[in-house]
Amino acid sequence: MAYDRKDRFYRKAKEKGFKSRAAFKLIEINKKFNLMRPGMQVIDLGCAPGGWLQVIAQEIGPSGKVVGVDLEPIHGIVERNLCLIQGDINQQPIQRRISAELGRRVDLVVSDMAPNLSGVKFQDHYNSYLLAQMALHCCSLFLRERGGFVVKIFPGEELENYKKALKERFAKVQTFLPEATRKTSIDMYLISSGFIPPKTETPTAISAVGAS
Ligand SMILES: C[S@@+](CC[C@H](N)C(=O)[O-])C[C@H]1O[C@@H](n2cnc3c(N)ncnc32)[C@H](O)[C@@H]1O
Repeated sequence: MAYDRKDRFYRKAKEKGFKSRAAFKLIEINKKFNLMRPGMQVIDLGCAPGGWLQVIAQEIGPSGKVVGVDLEPIHGIVERNLCLIQGDINQQPIQRRISAELGRRVDLVVSDMAPNLSGVKFQDHYNSYLLAQMALHCCSLFLRERGGFVVKIFPGEELENYKKALKERFAKVQTFLPEATRKTSIDMYLISSGFIPPKTETPTAISAVGAS
């Protein structure tokens, strides 16, 4: 076994009733960057099995709303302030379903999406970069002006290009490596705030909703 699956965070997740150890990464990120508040609307991309969803639902409270999307089904999360969509975020019908769930542009987009690992470092990095690009596209579609964005990316050749693209759309971009990331893991998070919407966005259902 390459890592201790039942490490400290795995056991803590079980104890606290979180669906995944990933929950602690978002708790750490939120503690440091103070991203979430009651009443917020949030999109959680790559939300299965649901640890981040649980943390978000708790932070935004009953007056907030979180829309979670994943290729995989999500089971056993009963918070009332969430909506779950199963499907591929690259597909326009899935993007339209997100729009239909929202009454306005959201305050925060988070993406913990990860590709299936091939074991080939460049390929895994590149696939992660493509998912991160899609998550950034979702900001253009759904995020309000000055909103926040958290995205996972595996480090590699395209990282600097990606950061450059982020800096064109956000006032502030920071890098964060959570303690709850496994020693063997390659994920890093980019935390951005102060979203600057593109001037000419392809119209989508959300365009009709407008910024809050
Ligand atoms: C590391 S897991 C997310 C863990 C989650 N944040 C949690 O707290 O439980 C990454 C997820 O990204 C999802 N994913 C990968 N590609 C996707 C895509 N194109 N559309 C939607 N979800 C995707 C995978 O199905 C997987 O469940």
